[in-house]
Amino acid sequence: MNGIEDGVAVVTGGGSGIGRQSSLRFAEAGAKVVVADVDEDGGNETVERIVRDGGEATFVTTDVTDSDDVAAMVQTALDEYGGLDFAHNNAGIADEGVRLAEYDEAEWDRMIDINLKGVWRCLKAEIPEMVERGGGAIVNTSSIAGVSANGGAHYAASKHGVIGLTRRATVDYADDGIRFNAVCPGVIDTPMVQQAGEDNAEEMDRITAGIPAGRLGDPAEIADAVVWLCSEDSSYVMGQPIVIDGGLLVQ
Ligand SMILES: NC(=O)c1ccc[n+]([C@@H]2O[C@H](COP(=O)([O-])OP(=O)(O)OC[C@H]3O[C@@H](n4cnc5c(N)ncnc54)[C@H](O)[C@@H]3O)[C@@H](O)[C@H]2O)c1
Repeated sequence: MNGIEDGVAVVTGGGSGIGRQSSLRFAEAGAKVVVADVDEDGGNETVERIVRDGGEATFVTTDVTDSDDVAAMVQTALDEYGGLDFAHNNAGIADEGVRLAEYDEAEWDRMIDINLKGVWRCLKAEIPEMVERGGGAIVNTSSIAGVSANGGAHYAASKHGVIGLTRRATVDYADDGIRFNAVCPGVIDTPMVQQAGEDNAEEMDRITAGIPAGRLGDPAEIADAVVWLCSEDSSYVMGQPIVIDGGLLVQ
């Protein structure tokens, strides 16, 4: 894709699911990739797959709730590959959720700390390097729960917040040549959803039957959008939440 080749990308949550696929897609398109995750085994496996296919990638253990880790992640891109052009801020967690008034504060804080503040920590570390370099493109992973009342209240609040960050960053840094967009996946066949399916197979069948596409999404279908949103082919797309959900929300 235009402008991806020879660039440098960081991907959080790159050790599994959607982040693994976007890491692979960035590498296939010719970018060098910093794969960041708390899960060392998963992150290293993503790097091994990229290298086996002839690409370049490095793993860095990163917890997005830790500002020092996030700073080290960006520093790895600078040290290993000389700069930072693209970021996919994607690390996140989900759980079943309860009704709004039933959350305890620790559960609420943990969800917001990883899914929302984690994205902010990444933006805070990535943006100055892109300003310095003269531009870049960033995609944050939100969810259909970022534009509708899907998911638990804490998850929905975190994913709505990711869209707010994406919009505000667009306005703040357009003059610096940095574009920001968000992807809003529907129900995607990743370990996150497979776990939910194992926990409640009947509910998963019901959800799948309600998707107009008639199936779950493939993480590669999200990854393709992420790489396109970082490429010059999407140069006029700015600040958008892009819903990729097999038609689930249009009903
Ligand atoms: N799968 C879906 O249906 C779906 C739908 C909408 C949005 N999403 C979002 O997509 C993103 C990726 O989800 P996925 O389905 O690929 O899940 P996944 O569980 O397969 O992958 C998530 C990755 O994030 C990592 N991670 C979790 N907490 C972290 C932290 N504190 N620091 C760094 N890494 C951390 C995990 O180790 C894991 O490798 C998440 O933000 C999720 O909310 C997923």
